[in-house]
Amino acid sequence: MSKRTPIIAGNWKMNLNYTESVHLVQGLYWQLRDATYDYNAGEVLVIPPFVDIRSVQVLVESDELPIKYGAQDISTHDSGAYTGEVSGSMIKALGASYVLVGHSERRQYHAEDCPDILIGKIKQALKNELTPIFCVGENLEIREAGTYKEHILKQVSDVLQVFSGKEIANFVIAYEPIWAIGTGKTATAADAQEIAFEIRKLILEKSGDEVADSVRIQYGGSAKSSNAADIMAGADVDGLLVGGASLEAEEFSKIVRIATKA
Ligand code: 13P
Repeated sequence: MSKRTPIIAGNWKMNLNYTESVHLVQGLYWQLRDATYDYNAGEVLVIPPFVDIRSVQVLVESDELPIKYGAQDISTHDSGAYTGEVSGSMIKALGASYVLVGHSERRQYHAEDCPDILIGKIKQALKNELTPIFCVGENLEIREAGTYKEHILKQVSDVLQVFSGKEIANFVIAYEPIWAIGTGKTATAADAQEIAFEIRKLILEKSGDEVADSVRIQYGGSAKSSNAADIMAGADVDGLLVGGASLEAEEFSKIVRIATKA
């Protein structure tokens, strides 16, 4: 495990309504409290659907829970006639601290694969003091063709090239191989470490070692309590972006404790 503060995030995707969101966050808090989890060991973050965020905010703020929360997407626009979009300032007003950008499901199903869009979203995140969790990863075809490293590094550099080292230092980058998302197939710890290392090397070459040392790199794709320790053992792996296994308080709290060794 690295010297950076680990970040364990639960991406709920399009699951749970606002009452269920309260139930899950309460459950997660109780599980971690019963296990005397030390939040200094790692950040715990939930990423609910937009319509749940207000309920999560009210719970977190009123009970002063040490759990953070973020949004799954952000508009490239400030405000205006963009039906269905949610702006950075709206997300910020809800007390959120993170936002996912470029998740493979948005790239794939919502045509958000182009660097310009991703750059626009990250700019909006920064403008509104939200930390972007920028997601990259290859599909099975690219993995099998053996060109995954080039593919992922291009995804990273196409977007990062417009940002300064100072900006990049606070980014979280999530490596999520698409073939491992929701499939039960997990990349090996060596796969996760290989890519995390390559991404950090790219940042080092672009922005120097101080920036490269502070960027946090997560792994996502069928992460669960049974593989969390292995994956987190990689020196460049600083956290997990958990999908399905974050929808259950007991399992997600276990992942948090195992991944952070707390
Ligand atoms: P699963 O953990 O369900 O494979 O999802 C990973 C993911 O896409 C998180 O963003």
